[in-house]
Amino acid sequence: HSFRRLEYSPPTYTLGQVALDIALDPAHTIVKSRLEVLPGPHHAADAPLILQGEELEFVSLRVNGEVHRQFELSPGFLKILALPDGGQKAFIVEIICACAPATNTSLMGLYVSNGNFFTQCEAEGFRKITYFLDRPDVMARYRVTLRAIEADYPVLLSNGNLIDTEKLPNGWHLATWEDPFPKPSYLFALVAGKLECLEETITTSSGATKLLQIWVEPADLKKTRHAMDSLIAAIHWDEKRFGLELDLERFMIVAVSDFNMGAMENKGLNIFNTKFILAQPETATDADFANIESVVAHEYFHNWTGNRVTCRDWFQLSLKEGLTVFRDQEFSADQMGSESGRAVRRIDDVRVLRQLQFPEDAGPMAHPIRPDEYEEINNFYTVTVYEKGAEVVRMYQTLLGVEGFRKGMDLYFQRHDGHAVTCDDFLAAMADANGRDLSRFKYWYSQSGTPKVHVAERYDASLQQYHLTLSQSCTPGDGQTLKNAFHIPLKMRLLTASNDQAEQLLELTQENQTWVFEGLAERPALSLNRGFSAPIQLKFAQSQDDLMHLFFADDDAFNRWESGQTLAMQLILDNHLPDSALIDAYRHILTDPDLDPAFKELALSLPAESYLYEQCVEVDPQHIHNARRAFRHAVASELRLEWAALYQQMQTPGPFSPDAVSAAKRALKNCALNMLLEADPLIWAPMAVNQYQTADNMTDRYGALAALVICGSKEAQACLKDFYTRFEGDTLVIDKWFALQASRPPVKGAQSTLEAVQQLRQHAAFKMNNPNRVRSVIHAYCLNNPASFHLADGSGYVFWAEAVLALNAVNPQIAARLARGLDRWRNFAQPFQSQMLAALQRVATSPGLSADVREVINKAIGAG
Ligand code: ARG
Ligand code: ZN
Repeated sequence: HSFRRLEYSPPTYTLGQVALDIALDPAHTIVKSRLEVLPGPHHAADAPLILQGEELEFVSLRVNGEVHRQFELSPGFLKILALPDGGQKAFIVEIICACAPATNTSLMGLYVSNGNFFTQCEAEGFRKITYFLDRPDVMARYRVTLRAIEADYPVLLSNGNLIDTEKLPNGWHLATWEDPFPKPSYLFALVAGKLECLEETITTSSGATKLLQIWVEPADLKKTRHAMDSLIAAIHWDEKRFGLELDLERFMIVAVSDFNMGAMENKGLNIFNTKFILAQPETATDADFANIESVVAHEYFHNWTGNRVTCRDWFQLSLKEGLTVFRDQEFSADQMGSESGRAVRRIDDVRVLRQLQFPEDAGPMAHPIRPDEYEEINNFYTVTVYEKGAEVVRMYQTLLGVEGFRKGMDLYFQRHDGHAVTCDDFLAAMADANGRDLSRFKYWYSQSGTPKVHVAERYDASLQQYHLTLSQSCTPGDGQTLKNAFHIPLKMRLLTASNDQAEQLLELTQENQTWVFEGLAERPALSLNRGFSAPIQLKFAQSQDDLMHLFFADDDAFNRWESGQTLAMQLILDNHLPDSALIDAYRHILTDPDLDPAFKELALSLPAESYLYEQCVEVDPQHIHNARRAFRHAVASELRLEWAALYQQMQTPGPFSPDAVSAAKRALKNCALNMLLEADPLIWAPMAVNQYQTADNMTDRYGALAALVICGSKEAQACLKDFYTRFEGDTLVIDKWFALQASRPPVKGAQSTLEAVQQLRQHAAFKMNNPNRVRSVIHAYCLNNPASFHLADGSGYVFWAEAVLALNAVNPQIAARLARGLDRWRNFAQPFQSQMLAALQRVATSPGLSADVREVINKAIGAG
């Protein structure tokens, strides 16, 4: 069954007050609900009230206080008939039902993790807790009473304010919470268990005092400081940048180790994967610290972009996700504290987009950021909706300016605060607040595929003119026929010796446009799509000389980086080693004392294999891997003196500090170590072992270990063993131990990674029902380690198929994510292509597929 965007109709009934009374028991939790039901905008007399409900045990139903027998129960629904006054006036529905949290391995709805209770309701998990109008355009006020045995569940949390606690007979107790803000059911949350919190009070812009709490298992309390600092920074940033203040007296975050995604923005009670909360220098890397900062901010920012203004229906998901990712990207960039830091964050974000979203946009699951159709909404929490969605929001800011964008945001909240709205409403607010016609911009929401912008340039020396012709095209990935040109904002600058040309914004709105620039005494070098101002692919046969000029001298850090990537990519794809000009350019960058170390590290990182695949017609993964590895080997050995010097210069003596400058040094130092191990493994392995043993922080310890594992050093095994015993009690660190081995590229003469992964699956600490552990072994291998996974005999794909089927029975969302792993099979050369298709067919024809996995596999095969 599939759902279509254009089939939206307003709700027949809506809700006023909702009262829940939940008696928590792992095996059998009883949920009593009292719903004030009102006729909705789409009401017709005698319309039945159709509530959603899944995996629930129905106990009883009352309407207006009387036992009600006119109802029908069917899989997924409770249909209530014969309503008082034909349902034209408000009435009260009371339902008692039960669910079994302890056996809920889907981690949607109410479930148990480490003996504590948690919920995940977005998108459609609330219907696994009680029968409900489980759609985001039905917003209600909640009062929630939680009951549980006090000794086992001393802490009882839900959304809003705590209004009552009581001791009850037989060792039970209760807590009642009231959320002053109407909300859709997907923002409901409860937590119960043995938890402790770090708390802090802050004063926000209006002078109000707010209580902030981060709840974790007692042993983890010492790892919550960074998350708290990140939350406080995010609160102040949103006041300053967007004038948005925290609207609750109390804001809580809870960490849980079994979680499908990163985190969830439930009103006033965010629930997080522990991975995005817990950090200490000894156990978390610089990347972990940065991710925590950005995810904590992301969920906090949802309080306005998502919660105060929410989505009318799930097709509008990017309305809140694209916007909130854009906001967290801007926040994280500002936290870097420098222009070069901002640029480094931008490069990182673009790398993710191109490695993950471009392939999605060209494959069988391609969809516009506002999809038109889905079978399972959980399959649409994608890099397209999130990351491309954020790029689309960024383009408004590029077109309107930072101030114009702010005006648009202000109008958006003025018009829609407290409502469930659409992407069109957001566009209208941006256009109206700025008096701009953005009608062509809407195609970013309706058309999938990465637009290509073809560049033709011509310099006329006699007229001192430079002509630039841009034309756009787009291959739709999902059977759409694209007819409409996108509105593409392209920042550009002509680079000249006299440095006399300013940056400008070109707006490409037609299929073809030409611009003529006057007064150019010499032929300029073109720097286009600066800062990656539009999520497009440039098709530009720019000369080697111009690319090299940009790599040396472009004042736009993104394009400076980009020209280096283009130069390397062309050589790798042609199976060439770096020429001496490129090596010299790399040397120039590495030895420039004024360049940010983080930029150097990025400039010397080669394009990812998955990005290289997108440039080929018939992908031979082994060939690409070998070409890239040979190229890397040459960069390592030809610059061995520079790498060795950097390894010394980038040391960060003194106590550990996670700040951006120190983190950048560590990144470059560990990059240097990897290169040195690639060039001269025998000389540098002892240095790596020494760094491994003496490090006082996880970035350096893990960096050294990873370098040893990746180069296949003999010393790797002993260090891996040491690492395991050292951190055996720390689940998140052990995830790193698993992930490192599962993502090891092939090493000549060593055990194959597939064999290693098969052993890791049998390891006593491997758990099929813990998403982080599964992702660190199975997803890391199948989705993140192309050269070890794409084996010519198809054995990697056989492993994949078995894992998809095994996970399908445990957790459909985690299975469906893995099932995306063969999406691009049509682009592979033989024998890979047929082996991939065989594996897909094996999954497709297996019995008992979840809707999640079925949708993904059918689309991949082309039967969807
Ligand atoms: N809204 C959450 C976030 O991006 C993601 C939750 C999605 N969960 C799911 N089961 N689909 O912050
Ligand atoms: Zn989000």
